[in-house]
Amino acid sequence: MRGKVLYKMNYSPKSSGEKMMSHSGILLVLLLLSSVAAAALSLRRNFYLESCPEAEVIARDVLSGTMAGDARAAASVMRLQFHDCLVIGCDGSLLLDETAEMAGEKSALSNVNSLRSFQVIDEIKEALEKACPTLVSCADILIMAARDAVFLSGGPKWEVKLGRQDSLTASQEASNEIMPSPRANATSLIALFTKFNLSVQDLVALSGSHSIGKARCFSIVFRLYNQSGSGQPDPDIDSQYRVELDKLCPQGGDGNVTGDLDATPQRFDSQYYKDLVRGSGFLNSDQTLFALPQTRKYVEIFSKNQERFFKAFVQGMIKLGDLQSGKPGEIRRNCRVVNNISY
Ligand code: HEM
Ligand SMILES: *[C@@H]1O[C@H](CO)[C@@H](O)[C@H](O)[C@H]1NC(C)=O
Ligand SMILES: *[C@@H]1O[C@H](CO)[C@@H](O)[C@H](O)[C@H]1NC(C)=O
Ligand SMILES: *[C@@H]1O[C@H](CO)[C@@H](O)[C@H](O)[C@H]1NC(C)=O
Ligand SMILES: *[C@@H]1O[C@H](CO)[C@@H](O)[C@H](O)[C@H]1NC(C)=O
Repeated sequence: MRGKVLYKMNYSPKSSGEKMMSHSGILLVLLLLSSVAAAALSLRRNFYLESCPEAEVIARDVLSGTMAGDARAAASVMRLQFHDCLVIGCDGSLLLDETAEMAGEKSALSNVNSLRSFQVIDEIKEALEKACPTLVSCADILIMAARDAVFLSGGPKWEVKLGRQDSLTASQEASNEIMPSPRANATSLIALFTKFNLSVQDLVALSGSHSIGKARCFSIVFRLYNQSGSGQPDPDIDSQYRVELDKLCPQGGDGNVTGDLDATPQRFDSQYYKDLVRGSGFLNSDQTLFALPQTRKYVEIFSKNQERFFKAFVQGMIKLGDLQSGKPGEIRRNCRVVNNISY
C-alpha cells in the first residue's frame, strides 16, 4: 500500500510542474512541487530503471501473451496511442470510462464501436501494480505497448521516453473535434498534423501504422458508393480491388464487418505503401496520400524502401509521444478511473 500512502501526499492542482523521482530499493516517490504553472514534464528514456526496472519487460510480456491468441491486438493497441496523444496530449485520458459527470472519449465519434483491446492495457496495469504499485502511469503504458506492438509484429524497435502522468479528466468533445475522419483528404490531413508539429513525412509515415489491423465497412461505404456525395464510387480504387470491397461491404450491408487495412495485416511492413501505389488502399484517408504530390512523394519512397519507412515511423511515433497536456496529473491505480483523492 506504499503507493496509496504516497499519493496522499500534499498535492495541489495549483502546483503543477511536478516531477517524479525514484530512489532505488525503497521505491520512494518524491513529488517536487514547483510554483511555476503547468511546466512540461521532462520525459526520458529508462525512466523506471530504478523505481521499477522490470516495467518495460512486464508490459511487453503481457502484450505478447495476448497477441498469441489475438494478433490484431497489436494494431488495436498501437492505435490507442494516436487517439490518446492527439487529444490534449498523451495523458491516458482515452482510457477513462464514462462517469455521471464526464462523457468519456471511448464513445467519441472515431472511437465508439471501433477502439478495442482496452483489456490488454488493464492487464498490463494489473501486472505493474503488483510489481510496483502506483509508479507506472497508464499514459506511459500506452506508449510502451504501442512500441511493443510494432516490434512484435515485425516492425522496428526503439526506446521510448517515459515519465508521463495520467489526466484527471477526459474530453469527448475535444476528441470529436480533433480526430480525423476516414473520409479526410490529404490536404486536410496535412493541416491537422501541422497543428501538432507533425510534418508531411510524419503524416505519411504514421499512416503506415495501417500496415497492421482492420477497419469496418462503415468507414468505407461512402467511398464505395457515394464518394464526395457524387453518387459514384471513388475513381482512385483499383478495379479488381473494388470488386473485393464491394463483395465485403455491399451497399446497405452490415457496417460492422471488417476488412484488412493492407494485404499483410499481421505484419508491420511497407506493404501498405505498395497497396497505395496500386490503388488498393482501404480507407479514403489512406488512398488520398497517393493523390497529392506532397504526400505521394513519401508513399513512393516508403513503398520502395522499408528501412526509410521504419526510420520515419519511429521518428513520428516519438514526436506523437512528446505531445503533452501541460495539466496536473497523477499515476492512476486503475486506468479506467481517476484515483479517489480529493484535489
Ligand atoms: C492520418 C489519419 C488517420 C485516420 C483518418 C485514421 C483512421 C482510421 C480508421 C477509420 C480506422 C478504422 C476504424 C474502424 O473502421 O473501426 C483506423 C484503424 C487503425 N488506425 Fe488509423 N487513422 C489515422 C492515423 C493513424 C495513426 C497515426 C495511427 C497510429 C500511429 C493509426 C493506427 C491505426 C491502427 C493500427 C488501426 C487498426 C486498428 C485495429 O485493427 O483495431 N491510425 N484508422
Ligand atoms: C479536402 O477536404 C476539405 C475538408 O473536408 C475540403 O474543404 C476541401 O475542399 C477538400 N480538398 C480537396 C482538394 O478535395
Ligand atoms: C510546436 O512547436 C512550437 C515551436 O517549437 C511550440 O511552440 C508549440 O507549442 C508546439 N506545438 C505543439 C502542439 O506541440
Ligand atoms: C450521396 O451523398 C449526398 C451528399 O452527402 C447525399 O445528398 C445523397 O443522398 C447520397 N446518395 C446516396 C445514394 O446515398
Ligand atoms: C455495430 O455494432 C454495434 C454494437 O452491436 C451497434 O451499436 C452499431 O450500431 C453497429 N454499427 C454499425 C455501423 O452497424
